[in-house]
Amino acid sequence: MQDRAGFREFVRQLPKAELHLHLEGTLEPELMLALAERNGMPLPFPDVAAARAAYAFDDLQSFLDLYYAGAAVLQTEQDFYDLTRAYTVRAAQENIRHIEPFFDPQTHISRGIPFGIAIAGILLALEDAQEDFGITSRLIMCFLRDLSADDAMHTLQTAKLYHSRIAGVGLDSAEVGNPPEKFVTVFEEAGMLGFHRVAHAGEEGPASYITDSLDMLGVERIDHGVRCLEDPGVVARLVRERIPLTVCPLSNVKLRVFPEMAEHPLRRMLDAGLLVTINSDDPAYFGGYLTDNYVAVADALDLTPVDAVTLARNSFEASFLETQEKDAYLAEIDAFIAGS
Ligand code: ADE
Ligand code: ZN
Repeated sequence: MQDRAGFREFVRQLPKAELHLHLEGTLEPELMLALAERNGMPLPFPDVAAARAAYAFDDLQSFLDLYYAGAAVLQTEQDFYDLTRAYTVRAAQENIRHIEPFFDPQTHISRGIPFGIAIAGILLALEDAQEDFGITSRLIMCFLRDLSADDAMHTLQTAKLYHSRIAGVGLDSAEVGNPPEKFVTVFEEAGMLGFHRVAHAGEEGPASYITDSLDMLGVERIDHGVRCLEDPGVVARLVRERIPLTVCPLSNVKLRVFPEMAEHPLRRMLDAGLLVTINSDDPAYFGGYLTDNYVAVADALDLTPVDAVTLARNSFEASFLETQEKDAYLAEIDAFIAGS
């Protein structure tokens, strides 16, 4: 695996899971413009180049403003199908074997698009991905933390209708100023209903938001969590309790959580014994899909093929799959290594 192209190909073929992926964040400018036209909406950008040129962000909020504006082109069940299908086609090309994608129902409900429209298109595409590519999935719906807890609770009540098709709930959007404690009641109810629970924490917010998400929201996994390194006590706990962290390197650099990839803590996180996974977050906006994230980290932090295998193993271990399913995917990794 001496050269870069060889490493990329190794990672592309390596069986992997993706656990931190916002479906709305896979909306490539080409599809955004096509959907705007199909739905008779004003084009959000004059052309694809203008859209890409606008994808330069100062922080999380500057990204979110654009991301929510882009999502407005999603109007019909077919639009949500096309969005999800485009991602799963790419996932298959990268040998992503299992996905636990997020969607943000409130982003669509607030625009008058019913929960049922969005989820119907997404679920159909996920079924097709299983049938066509053998990709398994568990869907997670996220609450927008900048909206009220009442709004989240109302969304959770609607989600009950789709209980068997939604594996878990998450928490995303603007982190600072919207601490975990705001959503204690909603997550308590979600837990009682049997949903898995995850939350974005320690992306822009402090390390204490990670601990609070574990203690107050009962989450099983932390999305991002990169700021845990600011508190050795938090790191020790995450290691001890084997809490998975879904890290998104290209996202962290694009949103200026770290000034450049060379300063990304992924290597230190692995060395600390954390259960780290690599993910793409919003690949259409951050300049790369899952393999691109592995390669970007390898370029900057000397990630080796052995590290890549550890990260791929972690991705299955950290998933919400049953033990037998996890074992089957881990065996796929073993078979791939034996044959490469
Ligand atoms: N929604 C989509 N991507 C996000 C991120 N990186 N952080 C918080 N909310 C998001
Ligand atoms: Zn995210």
